[in-house]
Amino acid sequence: MNNSVLILGAASDIGIAIAEKYASKGYHLLLAARNITRLTALQSDLQIRYKISCSLLEFDAAAFSMHEKFWQSISNKPGIVISVIGYMKENDQVVASQNETLATIHSNFTGLVSLLNIIAADFAARKEGTIAGISSVAGMRGRQSNYIYGSAKAGFTAYLSGLRNKMYQYNVHVMTVLPGFVYTKMTEELNLPKLLTAQPKDVANAVFNGIQKRKNIIFVKWFWRWIMLIITSIPESIFKKKKL
Ligand SMILES: NC(=O)c1ccc[n+]([C@@H]2O[C@H](COP(=O)([O-])OP(=O)(O)OC[C@H]3O[C@@H](n4cnc5c(N)ncnc54)[C@H](OP(=O)(O)O)[C@@H]3O)[C@@H](O)[C@H]2O)c1
Repeated sequence: MNNSVLILGAASDIGIAIAEKYASKGYHLLLAARNITRLTALQSDLQIRYKISCSLLEFDAAAFSMHEKFWQSISNKPGIVISVIGYMKENDQVVASQNETLATIHSNFTGLVSLLNIIAADFAARKEGTIAGISSVAGMRGRQSNYIYGSAKAGFTAYLSGLRNKMYQYNVHVMTVLPGFVYTKMTEELNLPKLLTAQPKDVANAVFNGIQKRKNIIFVKWFWRWIMLIITSIPESIFKKKKL
């Protein structure tokens, strides 16, 4: 293992910010995405500016049969793996389409579990390594406007919680990231409240610092912990009547 970081979903706005953060700290990068041609400009830029190595790898969370091969194809295993992958579309359209429902579940939950199980077993055998997963506060309570994405994120959050518990005895650090709103491609059509919304670089800084301090769960912006405490405290009999 070495001081390299594997970023899954590296072409996302948050993935790019995390790549830049780690490159600026001298880490070597393995950037994985569904279409790596979009990453070649970033690759050269980071290599030149920060004098680090940066490899590009094709990865699709929904291509389950390729997951073992994907991990085995990496000869110099990274010390840190960060999953940034996520997929969110308008809930009514997702509910109406079985393909979209499965894409949402596979990209946010089952596809990540499939790969991270393989990586966690390898890290456990080596007795070192860090796995960080970007989940979401959306997984903390199902809402009528977003419950397919939210339930997939809930599954991923619970998975990371159990994995952290299991990996503790093997000296493997597992961190859950629970961002609130972030300005990215995923949310560009939403009218987000400015005061509550983070920038991708805020997430990157929080992820970097959280991993350095071996944190368990981070919220990116501190106030989301308290917003979610209020939201999860509303009785179901009232919550179900709210158009949230
Ligand atoms: N933006 C927010 O307000 C917010 C809030 C809470 C949590 N998050 C989470 O933050 C993470 C980053 O999202 P973002 O906001 O930066 O949005 P984004 O730019 O849309 O990034 C999502 C990334 O996931 C990749 N992806 C989706 N399905 C995949 C699959 N099956 N296999 C491989 N890659 C796949 C996408 O790849 P393609 O580019 O190929 O489509 C895209 O690069 C996600 O986990 C998201 O759920 C975001």
